[in-house]
Amino acid sequence: MAAPMGISTYADLSFTTRQDAAEFLVERAMPYISELANPCLMDLGCGTGAVAMAAMRARSDLRTIALDISSANVRSAREKAAAAGLGNRMTAVCEDYMRWKGEKVDLIISDGVLHLVSSTDAALAARLSSDLRRGGILLATMPIVSLGNTL
Ligand SMILES: C[S@@+](CC[C@H](N)C(=O)[O-])C[C@H]1O[C@@H](n2cnc3c(N)ncnc32)[C@H](O)[C@@H]1O
Repeated sequence: MAAPMGISTYADLSFTTRQDAAEFLVERAMPYISELANPCLMDLGCGTGAVAMAAMRARSDLRTIALDISSANVRSAREKAAAAGLGNRMTAVCEDYMRWKGEKVDLIISDGVLHLVSSTDAALAARLSSDLRRGGILLATMPIVSLGNTL
């Protein structure tokens, strides 16, 4: 699942997140935290932060950590949140996820990222587990080999 250790080319790239995909994931994730007050969500490998933004729009009491290894992506996520008046509820972090140290969260959404994280599967799974509060949820997507992914 995780990328072989030592590969991290994404730090120098930028990525534009699809709004429709972000909203789709957030819509499916929200019921899992509907009982929690003031939940905290991590948009892991946030790209331009569309998941974090959609989640904050869906819940006015929700805080987000938008984390990405690319400084261009993190800057973009931070600027978009500020422009939307949501900056006070987003902590934008430029860090390799495996090096990040922060608070535990209620929900991690990670769209098309985990296979890029340079780690062993066991270490990545342990990190994800330890970054979730008790009862926390991971919603992750992974790409598949298909015609659409190879054109
Ligand atoms: C395919 S893009 C997906 C971005 C976003 N989640 C989306 O769906 O639009 C993969 C993202 O993962 C980030 N990334 C790759 N390795 C990472 C790592 N070790 N820690 C944090 N982010 C990472 C990249 O910079 C990139 O923004």
